[in-house]
Amino acid sequence: MQKSSTRNALFTTIFVIIVALAPLSALGADFKREVVYQIITDRFFDGSTANNNPSQSSGLYDATKTNWRAYWGGDLAGIQQKMSYLAGMGVTAIWISPPVDNLNANIPDGGGNPTASYHGYQGRDFKRVEEHSGNASNTWTEFDNLVSAAHAAGIKVIVDFAPNHTTQDNAGEFGAFYDNGTLVGNYTSDTNGYFHHNGNISNWDDRYQVQYYTLFNLADLNQEHATVDAYMKASAQLFQQHGVDGFRIDAIKHITWGWQYSLANSIYTYGDSFLFGEWYQSGTSDPLYRDSYKYSNKSGISMLDFPLNTAVRNVFGSNANFSEIDTVLTAEAANFTWDEDLVTFVDNHDMTRFLSLNNNNNRLHQALAFILTSRGIPCIYYGTEQYLHNDTSGGGDPYNRPMMNAFSTSTTAYTLTNRLSTLRRNNTAIPYGSHQQRWMNNDVYVYERKFFGNVVLVAINKSGSTQYNITGLNTSLPAGAYSDHLTGLIGGSSINVTAGTGGNNPVAAFNLPANTVAVWQFTESGGAPQTGSIGPVAAQPGVKVTIGGKNFGATRGTGSVKFGTTTATVNSWSATKIVVTVPAVTNGVYNVTVTNSGGQVSNGIQFTALTAKLIPVTFTVFNASPTQTGDYIFLTGNTVELANWATTWDGAVGPMLTPNYPNWFLNVSVPAGQTIQFKFIKIAANGAVTWEAGANHSYTVPASGVGFVNANWQY
Ligand code: NOJ
Ligand code: NOJ
Ligand code: CA
Repeated sequence: MQKSSTRNALFTTIFVIIVALAPLSALGADFKREVVYQIITDRFFDGSTANNNPSQSSGLYDATKTNWRAYWGGDLAGIQQKMSYLAGMGVTAIWISPPVDNLNANIPDGGGNPTASYHGYQGRDFKRVEEHSGNASNTWTEFDNLVSAAHAAGIKVIVDFAPNHTTQDNAGEFGAFYDNGTLVGNYTSDTNGYFHHNGNISNWDDRYQVQYYTLFNLADLNQEHATVDAYMKASAQLFQQHGVDGFRIDAIKHITWGWQYSLANSIYTYGDSFLFGEWYQSGTSDPLYRDSYKYSNKSGISMLDFPLNTAVRNVFGSNANFSEIDTVLTAEAANFTWDEDLVTFVDNHDMTRFLSLNNNNNRLHQALAFILTSRGIPCIYYGTEQYLHNDTSGGGDPYNRPMMNAFSTSTTAYTLTNRLSTLRRNNTAIPYGSHQQRWMNNDVYVYERKFFGNVVLVAINKSGSTQYNITGLNTSLPAGAYSDHLTGLIGGSSINVTAGTGGNNPVAAFNLPANTVAVWQFTESGGAPQTGSIGPVAAQPGVKVTIGGKNFGATRGTGSVKFGTTTATVNSWSATKIVVTVPAVTNGVYNVTVTNSGGQVSNGIQFTALTAKLIPVTFTVFNASPTQTGDYIFLTGNTVELANWATTWDGAVGPMLTPNYPNWFLNVSVPAGQTIQFKFIKIAANGAVTWEAGANHSYTVPASGVGFVNANWQY
């Protein structure tokens, strides 16, 4: 008794010291090994009643939890109190709803009931913390405590960041926004031009409208204005100073795309981070799908994988054939340079929860196991592990945001997540590996993840009644017997593999019962260094970059890292992670390689060396005509940021936008302080390229702030 309470006291003391000393600094750019958990702070756990009805926004709290559009009491302290619950589930990163100070005003609904910005998407001061989440003085105390506690538990913190807009533009506070308490501007008397005033988006496929019109009456910020640009970059940096490890960027399709490249660069220049955004689209045939992967490949901002989400919901929710998932994975692998960084999910706060779609826990387990083992970074919506759902009106927003109902650590979904999170950390095939379909019919999907000699083979039978005999299956697993990594949790059993040729080792025929998920794995030891991740994927000389992989050697010794043939300064080195500084190389695309102390050289991993930090510049070209339907004007120029004179649709910068035809404009992030050469080109629908005549245009990019450059198309 005595002994154990002493030990507890000692443990508590040590824990407190660790928490107190935990540095407010980010933990790493390689998110491929993480399991993310999405939390709506207000709906998770009420850790402090003191902040439930703060005076500056009183009346927005509903203690009865019957008004679904009011605050219900969940807060940052509540998340902190549930940290061991999250860690026990295998969660290694939390994404929390926007923590910034939100709309204070009450905008009653048609029935006179209060509505509130309990979800966090109506920011009014991006440099303070919301009083319902933290404290009545809007200070950072509770936020800092949460970050420290998360880091002490080995959990990273991602904040939802929504720089597209402030508050509602036609009611309440009319878009007014503040810089740490000082009013900057508002939508209704916008003499400085901080906002776009173009009305609501009606055509969701029009590149100009989606970026420059208004999203659901939310006051649409003009990020090309120097004040707004600086404000948002400073806000993001403030979150970095408070220790966040990553950002989920809201509504990226609706924020000037080119500007976001400089936002990402500003974040990476300050410090290590992982960025992913919400580019809403239903699938790979979406009219702006091509723009989505071009944006991601060039900016290094990853995305929530909406196309795969649609397929996952169709296959597991609505019993579509597995080929639908397989087709999306194949397409995205061809289009996204960094498809392993795509963030995968079964449901989120903007769609019906899976169990409202199909109230079948077997299917939920299958979908969960799928995102935890397939390519991409899995993100689990809070409450999934407790089978949380409310089916009112079909279960859409706001009924997909119930209060967390239970914190059981013994549900099948909780245990499943824990086991597959462990596997993701221990076997590099899951975070870094290729994906290969090995056996498929309408009900069964057997796929293999492989990274060098590390292999994970997964078999899912989603039929609720039919057992299948799996014959003719080949795998890269070496010959041997394999037991189910899930130890039968979802019905799996063992397989036997015999030696074959060409990476095709036969698996002895076996039965896969209805509602089964089985996972078999092999972890290779020894060998040359293997690189699976680099982040950020683009940055200028001097920025720190994290390389993730295997076999680097526990200590550096004579090991080195090269960008092409140039050796980089190493900041830290471990067997699985190296941090280097981008060396002073000419801008362009490089293969980065790791050489270990024994002289063995890794595979190359692609990195783009920028010329300098990025500045958003708005380019306008007048009278670029004639063009026919399907023809677009693009920009191309003499640095990697300007596509190094590329003339293809995917390569050149653009397409430009033409709200005032025949004039075209585009906001592009270009290297600060550099004199750049560029031209405008026309790319016809059939790919034919027409260059404007004359000499190259030349422009010196400002060293900071924003820029504007106008030119006439040269005939
Ligand atoms: C997408 C968010 O996920 C959604 O919940 C929000 O309402 C809109 N963006 C506007 O911020
Ligand atoms: C080739 C084009 O024909 C020309 O117009 C352009 O200026 C150069 N590329 C850039 O060096
Ligand atoms: Ca509270």
